Amino acid sequence: MNIIDIINKKKNKQTLTFEELDYVIKGYLNDEIKDYQMSALLMAITINGMSEEETINLTNIMLNSGDTIDLSEVNNIVVDKHSTGGVGDKTTLVLAPLVAACGLTIAKMSGRGLGHTGGTIDKLESIKDFKVDISNEDFIKQVNEINVALVSQKDNLVPADKLIYALRDVTGTTSSIPLIASSIMSKKLASGASKFVLDVKVGEGALIDNLDDARKLAKLMVKIGKANNKETICVLTNMDEPLGCAIGNGVEVIESINFLKGNHVEDLYTLTTSLAAIMVSIGKDVGIRQALIEVTEKLENGEAYQKFLDMVSYQGGNIKEIELSSKIHSIRSNKSGYINRIDPLKIGNLVKQLGGGRTSKDDVIDLGVGFLLNKKVGDHVLENEELLKVYYGRGDIKIKDIINCFEIDIIEKTQNPLIYEVIK
Ligand code: URA
Repeated sequence: MNIIDIINKKKNKQTLTFEELDYVIKGYLNDEIKDYQMSALLMAITINGMSEEETINLTNIMLNSGDTIDLSEVNNIVVDKHSTGGVGDKTTLVLAPLVAACGLTIAKMSGRGLGHTGGTIDKLESIKDFKVDISNEDFIKQVNEINVALVSQKDNLVPADKLIYALRDVTGTTSSIPLIASSIMSKKLASGASKFVLDVKVGEGALIDNLDDARKLAKLMVKIGKANNKETICVLTNMDEPLGCAIGNGVEVIESINFLKGNHVEDLYTLTTSLAAIMVSIGKDVGIRQALIEVTEKLENGEAYQKFLDMVSYQGGNIKEIELSSKIHSIRSNKSGYINRIDPLKIGNLVKQLGGGRTSKDDVIDLGVGFLLNKKVGDHVLENEELLKVYYGRGDIKIKDIINCFEIDIIEKTQNPLIYEVIK
């Protein structure tokens, strides 16, 4: 076997065997296959695709490229949730304690933000002293005692994906559906949960901007889950505007806490309760209506908030000290009308430029900067009324660019639904 034959095979739209894919992944990990050869193969896959069987094989080979998490000592059903990434997406912060309050276990590994989207681990680090790296023993002990832990992904979990994802990022091959599916599912399967709910974001602020591709990705991930005997449900959701009102690290944690205390922003409420109900429904094998009643009850009676507090205290965090910049600038509308659009991609990039996100992996971010929207899409705004607050630090506030994220008109535009469909 050699890599040039394999690249040519994919270039000629042929199917790669398990052995060939295994040869590629092992060869790339031990540096026998070089970046330029892997790049050529990734591009051939991006252009010519992969069959379902090839994608399932690739996922399993990647899954076995490193450690997997053994949750057999957790004495409960472990459900996991994943989002393909969005702007203002603090769903995990709210959903994890909520689902745990309903009696299921969330033993979740999350990532950091890269590009214009945020990451749960950075957000959690805005809580003073919150530990995101804990030993396996402490992780299992914590989830057995309080049903919930949110930690950073272990270094040797799917090392093949780490290398390939970094290469895809710089070779124009991030959009390939089989490569996205195998990247996400290999990590989910390695994390040891038994059931998965995947939030596939669709829109300009997301990895995928159209429903057709989102459906293809969702169907493929459901098939990969089934092939591994793990129930997997995908929910296709809208990323046409930032989720909730806060975009940034500390500011999103504060919004999540306010949410758990009963202060609900509509889109965040709808999405979180829907995803939580699906998790509870599959985890406890109850109907979706019953699950939704339980979820709503745990949110309203404060048990979900208590779980969040328990998790923060177990992981050493001080809930009274959350990083938020004290420098605030209010941005006001230059006209009256309906807010027809708040561009999530531009908003995410502007928060990143303020220091709230990374351009490269090693950048140190400012956890206290961010935006707090005073208006959402569909709201009416008057001239000179506040559109948002900017929490800023060392970066410049680009007022004109921020205002340009808002499309305001006297006629209100019809919006896409928040939840498009569920694929299982
Ligand atoms: N998230 C991942 O983990 N991998 C991808 O390829 C895309 C999103």
